[in-house]
Order: sequence, then structure tokens, then C-alpha cells
Amino acid sequence: MASPVATPSQPIVFFLLALTAALLNSAAASGNFSQDVVITWGDGRGKILSNGDLLTLSLDKSSGSGFQSTNAFLYCRIDIQIKLVAGNSAGTVTACYLSSKGPAHYEVDFEFLGNLAGDPYVVSTNVFTQGIGNREMQFHLWFDPTKDFHTYAILWNPIHVVLYVDGIPIREFKNLEATKGIPYPKSQAMRLYGSLWNGDDWATDGGRVKIDWTRAPFTASFRNLAADGCVSGGNSSCRSKPWMQGALDGESLKKMQWAQKNYMVYDYCSDVKRFPQGLPPECSAS
Ligand SMILES: *[C@@H]1O[C@H](CO)[C@@H](O)[C@H](O)[C@H]1NC(C)=O
Ligand SMILES: *[C@@H]1O[C@H](CO)[C@@H](O)[C@H](O)[C@H]1NC(C)=O
Repeated sequence: MASPVATPSQPIVFFLLALTAALLNSAAASGNFSQDVVITWGDGRGKILSNGDLLTLSLDKSSGSGFQSTNAFLYCRIDIQIKLVAGNSAGTVTACYLSSKGPAHYEVDFEFLGNLAGDPYVVSTNVFTQGIGNREMQFHLWFDPTKDFHTYAILWNPIHVVLYVDGIPIREFKNLEATKGIPYPKSQAMRLYGSLWNGDDWATDGGRVKIDWTRAPFTASFRNLAADGCVSGGNSSCRSKPWMQGALDGESLKKMQWAQKNYMVYDYCSDVKRFPQGLPPECSAS
């Protein structure tokens, strides 16, 4: 008896497999917060909405909130879109960063320091290796980060760590371990963390401007998380990922110079008072 459903021919099976793979890939690329992250604190102040497409964090006088990625990565390229707390956000800190655990941990930070309405956010970046940071570089942005979502990205491969804003590299931390003996993140997996918290003892004007709690709750929104990472940095399918290759090309370097020349407001490598014994060695290596 002939089956009412024709046995699919091999090309059709391959086509369907390819289609399924493509759909799975695109699902992974656009991200689903319900699967990719866990809300870890804030007692309901962090929310995953719109079927996993949107994540909001909020802060009020009792608590902030935060999430972490389900996966930990040893090398990754992570892009996420964020819309920051609008209006008077002074004293609030929205953070989005990679971190490993323990006293000798690594960390790569974006911290968005709120400000009085009309005054610009400060984007504070830092890189920790072996538990030590002290590598702050701070920026203003060339847009209002509270009006729309903008893309913030961290690339981490064996060559360098690069922080991007809307595709423009704003900072590069090169792997100078072999040439200069500067510790580089290379053996501990890191997770992505996001949080919104009360930083008003330091964040705005050195802690002089406090949070206006009459405006609480404060809310920051996240969407389009694209986390492409290696579970194990040494394996061959990881090494063939496009973002594992290469240094910044000429055009990217020009963009980074543009961002640093026009929007950098603090650079630890220029802060000779802070380092009376001499600037950190990576400062003279670019
Ligand atoms: C996201 O993941 C959750 C939990 O697995 C699922 O219920 C939801 O349908 C997913 N959203 C989309 C847009 O696929
Ligand atoms: C190798 O890396 C790929 C990409 O990250 C990952 O999916 C896979 O699980 C890794 N395999 C091993 C054995 O670690």
C-alpha cells in the first residue's frame, strides 16, 4: 500500500535539515533571554518580557537587580542592545560586563554612570586580570543612550579584548603577555553579567550627586543579546570562528582614534599622578 505521505527524497531531507539549522542559528543569533540568561537578584525587579525578547532591570530604594548568562565562555563575542535610565539618572549605575570568579578573576566592564537630566552619561570601562583592574578609560557618547537602544559589544580572543559601541571600537586591550609579561585573560571562563544598582557614593561627580529617590523606580532595558562564545577556547571549531582572528584593521583603528580623541574623558594611561611609580607597562605599548 502506498503511504499517503510520500517518502521525501534525499535532496528534500537535506534542504529541510539545512533550513532547520538556519532557523536554529538565527534563533541563537537574535537571542532569547529566557534561555540565555538567569535573573539572579532583585526580588522581581528584573524581568524577562515579550517571550524572551526584552529584559528590564529596575532599581528602587530597597534594591537593584541583575542577571547573568547561562553559559560561561572562554573567548567570545557578545553584543547586546541597551537603553539606559532616562531623565535624572544621577547615582545609578547600569553595568554590563564579563567576569570570571575568584581572587585572581578576570573582568571586562562597561559601566554606565548616570547623570542629572541633560548632563551626559559617563561610560566607564575597565579590564581586570589576575584580580587587578585600575585600568579605567571613560567616555561620553556621541548620542543620547536613553532615547533608543544602542549596541555595546565585547570581543575577547587570544589576541585582544575590544569594547565596541555601535560597531565602533572605543578601546583595545592587547595580549602583551608574551612580549611584556602583562597578564592576559586566557584560562578562566567568563560569564556575562548585567545589573542596575545604587552607586551614588561614587558614580556621579565623585559621589557628590545622590540618587533622587522620588524618581524611583529607575529602569534600564536590554534586547538582542547575541552571545557567540567558545566553551573551550582551545578547540578547532572555536578557533575557526571569524571573531577569533586578526588584529584591528586600519579602518577600525581610525574609528577607535576618532572615539578616543573626541569622546574619551579619562584615561588611566594619562594619569601620571595616580601612578607615581610610573604608568602601567601596557600604556607605553601602543
Ligand atoms: C524563548 O524561550 C522560552 C523558554 O524556553 C520559550 O517559552 C519562548 O517561546 C522563546 N521565545 C521565542 C521567541 O522563541
Ligand atoms: C568546541 O568549541 C565549540 C564552540 O564553542 C563548542 O560548541 C564545543 O562544545 C567545544 N568542544 C569541546 C570538546 O569543548
